Amino acid sequence: MPSTKYPSFLFLLLVTAPLFASAARCDKADKSALLAIKAAFNNPPDLSSWTSKTSCCTWNGIDCNATTGHVTSLTIFALNISAPIPSAISKLTALQSLNLAYNQLYGPIPPFVGRLPELTFLRLDGNLLTGTIPSTLTILDLSLVGNRLTGPLPPSFAKANFADVDLRDNQLTGDASFLFGRDKNLNALHLSNNSFKFDLTNVEIPKGLDILVIDHNEIYGSIPAEVAAMKWLQFDVSYNRLCGPIPQGRYTRRFGAKHFDHNKCLCGPPLAPCK
Ligand SMILES: *[C@@H]1O[C@H](CO)[C@@H](O)[C@H](O)[C@H]1NC(C)=O
Ligand SMILES: *[C@@H]1O[C@H](CO)[C@@H](O)[C@H](O)[C@H]1NC(C)=O
Ligand SMILES: *[C@@H]1O[C@H](CO)[C@@H](O)[C@H](O)[C@H]1NC(C)=O
Repeated sequence: MPSTKYPSFLFLLLVTAPLFASAARCDKADKSALLAIKAAFNNPPDLSSWTSKTSCCTWNGIDCNATTGHVTSLTIFALNISAPIPSAISKLTALQSLNLAYNQLYGPIPPFVGRLPELTFLRLDGNLLTGTIPSTLTILDLSLVGNRLTGPLPPSFAKANFADVDLRDNQLTGDASFLFGRDKNLNALHLSNNSFKFDLTNVEIPKGLDILVIDHNEIYGSIPAEVAAMKWLQFDVSYNRLCGPIPQGRYTRRFGAKHFDHNKCLCGPPLAPCK
């Protein structure tokens, strides 16, 4: 009976047509912002898929919200791009994830990056960025590893809701104790290889923290007792100025001496006994 075949064909058309339309949909303003970013990056060959003729949601490194066609994720990773962070990024107002790691981006981190209202993931590792961290950069998952950032952390970081903070291999200074706090949601904190200088004695270890890697700084005082009771995935306080007995717990002991070595006077297992 043709009367049954016909409606099922129509049904298929009705169901699939909007799927194709949404996959290809690309917000016009976002598209011109992306083309401006490509130009600011001197049209790298790896971005040859970024052309005005195609939907921006099909381009390399781009994810969109299928309903709105707004760009939600921008990844330009390891393309050796030498440029400042382009201002056109500020126009991508639905951006949730921005990854520009392992290029040769230079100049300061512009404050507008932290003002993108939906941004929860920022990765700028392995660039040549300089200057201080802007106060707007209170982003849930923040990674700025291996740049040339200097100066103290912005005071706004005290009230920020961070899950992961990774600031390794920069030239940051001063206090970072305000990143701690019992009721914070912090899971991972990496501060290695900076010049942070603060007293660790009275910090409250966040309940869910399981990575604390703060070696190669100028951190002083003693290791808080509650560290002994926690399940650590990574723990390293070596090359600081800490002193006093190492709190003894299953998860602190298993890391071995090199995660505690080269402090002022830490003692007890896995280091030498306290006098
Ligand atoms: C896409 O955008 C709409 C409208 O802003 C929003 O309701 C929806 O949750 C978004 N979808 C995803 C997967 O984020
Ligand atoms: C990266 O770019 C620099 C110039 O900015 C160039 O000297 C170098 O060869 C490039 N490296 C790679 C792996 O393309
Ligand atoms: C520490 O950072 C400096 C640059 O600030 C870098 O040259 C050095 O390789 C880093 N050291 C380690 C162990 O990562």
